Amino acid sequence: MAENIKIDFQAPSAVDGGDVVVFVGEALKPSPAVAKLLGQKAVDLIAKVAAVENFKGKAKSAMAIVAPSALSVDRLVVVGLGGEKDRASLDWAQLGGLVASKTSAKTATVMADFPGITATPENIADMALGIRLRRYSFERYKTKKDDTKTEGTSRFVFAVSAPAEVKKAAKTADGIAAGVTIARELVNEPPNVLGPKEFAARAEALTKLGVEVEILDEKAMQKLGMRALLGVGQGSTRGSRVAVMRWNGGKAGAQPIAFVGKGVVFDSGGISIKPGAGMEDMKGDMAGAACVVGLMHALASRKAKANVVGAIGLVENMPDGSAQRPGDIVTTMSGQTIEIINTDAEGRLVLADVLWYVQDRFKPKFMIDLATLTGAILVALAQEYAGLFSNNDELAQRIAAAGQATGERVWRMPVGPEFDKMIESKFADMKNSAGRQGGSSTAAALLQKFVNDVPWAHLDIAGTAMGSPQTEINRGWSSGWGVRLLDRLVRDHYEG
Ligand code: BES
Ligand code: MN
Ligand code: ZN
Repeated sequence: MAENIKIDFQAPSAVDGGDVVVFVGEALKPSPAVAKLLGQKAVDLIAKVAAVENFKGKAKSAMAIVAPSALSVDRLVVVGLGGEKDRASLDWAQLGGLVASKTSAKTATVMADFPGITATPENIADMALGIRLRRYSFERYKTKKDDTKTEGTSRFVFAVSAPAEVKKAAKTADGIAAGVTIARELVNEPPNVLGPKEFAARAEALTKLGVEVEILDEKAMQKLGMRALLGVGQGSTRGSRVAVMRWNGGKAGAQPIAFVGKGVVFDSGGISIKPGAGMEDMKGDMAGAACVVGLMHALASRKAKANVVGAIGLVENMPDGSAQRPGDIVTTMSGQTIEIINTDAEGRLVLADVLWYVQDRFKPKFMIDLATLTGAILVALAQEYAGLFSNNDELAQRIAAAGQATGERVWRMPVGPEFDKMIESKFADMKNSAGRQGGSSTAAALLQKFVNDVPWAHLDIAGTAMGSPQTEINRGWSSGWGVRLLDRLVRDHYEG
């Protein structure tokens, strides 16, 4: 849950009590303005304690000093920015996350003046974003409080020279933080609580922000002929849904951009059932859909000047007497047929119908889908990069750049005729699995058959969205991966 923390921005003034966060380079000196404000005693103290503690001001390092009574603060939290090279490539959200992990007084004053760097209002807003992301934790189902943990800082006050501008930038950042938090929350929720219907209801909550939301139930999907998607859900007692979200912040009638998400609320594998070990993680198999909902929230809350469609396929993949079998052949909404080889290759079946539906109905400028699609992407890229597959170099390049800018990095992987060949079926137009080799690319190749000529990109986020390691801005398991990247993509290229 997002913790209730307050973040304020004020012009620098004398501090009274609490934690004070000070930034230093390898020279161990705060900026001249901060040094003046704190006084020479504090500056000398930092240098002295640094020598004792072997603190070198390196990037991502910090040291806390309990302040002597002569100073007006309780504790100095000294954060290192590293050498020139580190400072040139500073990740501001990570820096904010680091700050949030080091303070503990009720109020922390962040002296947001950095030796050797001029921070923009956006940089400071990114720090505030990093603080919010770091402070997220999922404790809804813990009924007992952990006594070993302190309450932590509940109010951060940034001392900045232009508070009004920073406040404006921070409002945008707050919308993004909320979007990431929503995505994380959806991924963390247990699958008994969050079925297709419940997930759809969470998407419907976006109407509060002015997003139009339509829910397709099974009857509506039958009518449209989405039999690939319905086939995946037919072994579950919980009916499938598709949620379509529309944010119309752009010119009336202008071609929208579209995001599509895989929302398998639980992936048991179906009749091709998965091994027991680790199966509980498959509650996260809806991270693509969660990202789309989080993104729509971020875009709507900052009133993005773009027309955006978000569409998510919500199903549960279960074994049952009525479940889909290996050998079944399904006819997709597009009319193309798919032979089911492995019922555990279900994500592509869901996306096949949703992608077709979106390009057919909305004629978007581009479509980007996000899916925890293959274990093979983890073999290739570990948890470091999401796999990027695309039929359009410009779109792929823009996504890669937005990934670099936000730290949600992608690596381009191949799709193309070689992989099309591998998914040829003896009995139908294609098959849903071609075995281990090139597993991520053969999955992408199937998706591509449902996008026609629309510029399209597929992000395989099986490695980046769930089961995540702890980072400066995330205490883990779910990361909300993709919300920041795609918000950035829209902001940089598709607004106005
Ligand atoms: N949801 C899984 C992929 C996955 C694996 C997501 C690990 C997150 C972490 C997907 O539906 C799946 O089961 N894929 C199979 C495809 C195979 C049967 C062709 C896989 O990757 O093994
Ligand atoms: Mn599966
Ligand atoms: Zn799956």
